[in-house]
Amino acid sequence: MCGIFGYIGKKTTAAQIVLEGLKSLEYRGYDSWGVATIPIIMKPFDSAQGEQFSNSAIAVKKQVGKIGNASVNDLPEGNLAFGHTRWATHGGVTERNAHPHLDCSHTIAVVHNGIIENYQEIKNKLIIKGHLFLSETDSEVATHLIEEYVKTRSFSDAVRTAFNDCTGLNALIVTSLKDQKIIAVRNGSPLAVGFGDGENLVASDATALLPFTRTVHFLEDDEMALLTKNTITINNVKTGNEIVVKKVRLNWIVDQTQLGSFPHFMLKEIHEQPRVLESIASQSVATIQKNADTIKDAAHSYLLGCGSASYVAIAGAYLFSKIAGKHINWAIGSEFGYQLDFLNSRSVIIPVSQSGETMDILESVKKAKLKQARIVALVNVFGSTLYRVADHKILIAAGPEKAVASTKAVTAMLAHLTLLAYALAGKTKAGQDVVKRAIESTNQLLVQKSIVQFKKLARQLKNTRHLFVIGRGLSYPASLETALKIKEIAYIHAEGMAAGELKHGPLALVEKGTPCIAFLPNDETYGANLAGAMEMKARGAKILGISHTPHEIFDEYIEVKDAEEATIIPNIVVAQLLAYYLTLERDLDPDKPRNLAKSVTVK
Ligand code: F6R
Repeated sequence: MCGIFGYIGKKTTAAQIVLEGLKSLEYRGYDSWGVATIPIIMKPFDSAQGEQFSNSAIAVKKQVGKIGNASVNDLPEGNLAFGHTRWATHGGVTERNAHPHLDCSHTIAVVHNGIIENYQEIKNKLIIKGHLFLSETDSEVATHLIEEYVKTRSFSDAVRTAFNDCTGLNALIVTSLKDQKIIAVRNGSPLAVGFGDGENLVASDATALLPFTRTVHFLEDDEMALLTKNTITINNVKTGNEIVVKKVRLNWIVDQTQLGSFPHFMLKEIHEQPRVLESIASQSVATIQKNADTIKDAAHSYLLGCGSASYVAIAGAYLFSKIAGKHINWAIGSEFGYQLDFLNSRSVIIPVSQSGETMDILESVKKAKLKQARIVALVNVFGSTLYRVADHKILIAAGPEKAVASTKAVTAMLAHLTLLAYALAGKTKAGQDVVKRAIESTNQLLVQKSIVQFKKLARQLKNTRHLFVIGRGLSYPASLETALKIKEIAYIHAEGMAAGELKHGPLALVEKGTPCIAFLPNDETYGANLAGAMEMKARGAKILGISHTPHEIFDEYIEVKDAEEATIIPNIVVAQLLAYYLTLERDLDPDKPRNLAKSVTVK
């Protein structure tokens, strides 16, 4: 949450570089943005422009709204700049609350990601000392606290002391006109520093560093990086001691982070799924077996996830039971911390996360580690916090995902869990075949004829106020995922549920014309699911059947070719396409839904 990008180096277009970096990070937060730069030239005063930058103050530009076509041509040239795209926590979405925040003398600038839990207490003390606050944010507190400390100590010591005074999980980027360095420090929120040639960088997501460098260091908790044009030194923020770090070389492909010919990242990522699934299915049997061995002997194991990944966790519980006869429980990331008292060194926790930065997951993992549980992470982002804290890492390898709504990472997670379940059953090859059938089935949904059908359905459903999605077994998590996708990007209230639950209450909401999406795959749930759909139909619901075969009760029908246990994969692709085209019909932006952001790094 919140995108951060900073540059210090040989180029004098630092603000421009930062703006481009922020644009590539916008999926992390897009209610407002801002850039700060240290000017190297004095701009002549232009009363028509109304703004004058001098080199006795840090120049800042902030705006409410998406960064899309923004420009910083009105900022002065400089060799140092940083900026922020905001996802509001404390304080409404206003220009004043946008970052960077300046101190009273406009010579210290700060951007912040996280929540300073004791901000009010610190703010009260600073107000008594005469500091003037311009925003309602917790973040501005850090700026004035550093201003206070710098009166009696060096800039880096002031940042260090201020950071240690702040409670909560935070990342700060700071500069001062006097020192002309960037300091980046974290405890919880992700940050990576990039080692360039005569230039150094920092960003909240390492993909943003790729145009400049592939040599990075992912800051660990309590690490503080001091960036100059030619050096990056890392210190422990608690002790001040220098730390020698091992740099990491990224082999990521820049193209994967670009939109290419697609109108939206979501559509691009939906279409990338067959290729991603193909590479997962083609892993060597030995690799899949080695991963499965890490959970084989656990006394108790838990799959953990949030949002879509929590539905993957539910699906995992069904897959392991059905295919391998193994009991693996599941929990929502934010809840697991309250139910893990029984964990011990024979427990295995399997957190499932695209970003590897979801705070609700990281917090539960931290608690599980304290109980000596082993962490086997299924994670997409190499180098993410989850990746680093895990005892065993299984890289999802879906490639960078930029649309806020997760698509290819979800189906890739499902493919991995299917393979693991088959491997535990000693039938890895059969697992690979099943995933390949899911790819064939997915391909059929992505052809033009099928897309025309999704567009037509979207036109029919676009004015719906609420709808139901039902399924049993593996189609239960598919129903939850379908409802979530429709809610989060098309803003239509959708309720996903186990079909058996209908008659226990929700059926009361069904009336003439209520749309109901029913999953009826070719498995043991078919008959019972059909019964659920009929109960709906008898009360006037319009049934959109998603099945391998048509049925007379369907008002509309989407064919999904049977892929045995992996049919959940194409079923979820149906959900993605339906939600995407519904969103377009409703004139909304599928990549940047309101109130949300990618990578949920706050609790
Ligand atoms: C929904 C969605 C979210 C994420 C959730 C977990 O489309 O994208 O519900 O699935 O925030 O994120 P990760 O997988 O990064 O832990």
